[in-house]
Amino acid sequence: MIEPTILAIESSCDETSAAVIRGGKVLSNIVNTQAVHEQYGGVVPELASRAHQQNIIPVVSQALLTANVAKSELNAVAFTRGPGLLGALLVGCSFAKSFALGLGIPLIEVNHMQAHILAHFIDDPKPQFPFLCLTVSGGHTQIVLVKDHLDMEIIGQTTDDAVGEAFDKTAKMLGLPYPGGPMLDKMAAQGNPNAFEFPVGNMPEYNFSFSGIKTSVLYFLRDKTKENPDFVQDNLVDICASVQQTLIKTLLKKLKQASRDLGIREIAIAGGVSANSGLRKTLQEYAAKHNWNVYIPAFQYCTDNAGMIAMAAHYQYLKGDFATQYVSPDPRLKF
Ligand code: KG4
Ligand code: ZN
Repeated sequence: MIEPTILAIESSCDETSAAVIRGGKVLSNIVNTQAVHEQYGGVVPELASRAHQQNIIPVVSQALLTANVAKSELNAVAFTRGPGLLGALLVGCSFAKSFALGLGIPLIEVNHMQAHILAHFIDDPKPQFPFLCLTVSGGHTQIVLVKDHLDMEIIGQTTDDAVGEAFDKTAKMLGLPYPGGPMLDKMAAQGNPNAFEFPVGNMPEYNFSFSGIKTSVLYFLRDKTKENPDFVQDNLVDICASVQQTLIKTLLKKLKQASRDLGIREIAIAGGVSANSGLRKTLQEYAAKHNWNVYIPAFQYCTDNAGMIAMAAHYQYLKGDFATQYVSPDPRLKF
């Protein structure tokens, strides 16, 4: 049995992260969330690249130190090739290439969205194949049929905005500080989810649409504040709870449909929005009633982290799936 020791780097958006994995066990996972974007209310790509540049060496050093692993013990270096912001990806990619070249060890390119799913293999319990994974992040909303660690098929996805974007944009309209998603989640926990009604997106097959919900929230707030300028202030937690419930309903509707059609009851969620407490709770309640085995990652493995990149790299190493020094980032990388 090979027990490869791999350094993994994640730099696709606003988290600079490095992890060390040995024999499939994550030994360290250091995440530096860039604070520079807060004042702009969203991620500024150029500032993200610069912050990655500043963070990458200390984050990698910390990951090796925490894992108690020397550079000479590494069997490979992995990095996120995409999808993500080009400038941000370039930092991780260039760093990993130089590191691999300097140490004379193989390079592994990882797909960020596959890695979100493979985060489920870091800790127990692990899902059984085949399983369905609802991957929900700031840039993606997908239902993925996972047949094996590296054999996955997207069976449904958003046709416009990602659900994370819908959370973030709603939060912004309500005047909540960045990052909006987690803040909206916190407010929603204190509100009545049935206070206001918004349309549940309805697309063919297992696809999603979130732009309609976003627009309806915008018009709803415009009309209500005309009647009462303090409307948002007076109803903040109820608006948050109602929008959140609508987004969760839209997601679960398609997930239920896919589970029914394919006869699969092994259900996982992954990506930043899987940290949402309402989604986690609703899914667990549904699972208990309908005999689903539900898998929800630990919070630290929901949002962007290099631990998940390391897990994907572990399986790719065992398969001999290595990249060359000619590899470059792909902001729209598919699988
Ligand atoms: O996976 P991720 O960290 O980065 C991307 O690959 O996009 O996901 C980030 C997204 C953001 O839209 C953020 O607002 C959302 O995940 N998010 C949440 C929560 N935590 C993170 N959305 C709702 N509730 C949360 N608790
Ligand atoms: Zn992500």
